[in-house]
Amino acid sequence: MGSMHRAAESADLVLDKPLAVRVGGREILLVRTAEGLFALEDLCPHAQQPLSTGKATGSLLTCKHHGVRIDLGTGRVVESMGFLGLQPVERFELREEAGAIWIELPEEAH
Ligand code: FES
Repeated sequence: MGSMHRAAESADLVLDKPLAVRVGGREILLVRTAEGLFALEDLCPHAQQPLSTGKATGSLLTCKHHGVRIDLGTGRVVESMGFLGLQPVERFELREEAGAIWIELPEEAH
């Protein structure tokens, strides 16, 4: 069980362009691609840089810093660039309603 938080207006999202938002005290990346709408923690599992400065296309997000690629649908690393031990990125359920994007955050988030 989580709680829904208003994260952005639908009109704020440009296709394939990640948007960094702060919701419930967390840094979150929103992105709309041809594959859908996604919300992930805005933190690269490699060197903890923001993922929102990266590039998205289809179901993939490429970190700008060293090129690690993340599957937007699962948060898993699909191209590690040889870096070992990369953990999946946390992803969040979301929905779009009445021109706004809502993210579900776990209850323990504040
Ligand atoms: S910080 Fe993202 S690939 Fe290195």
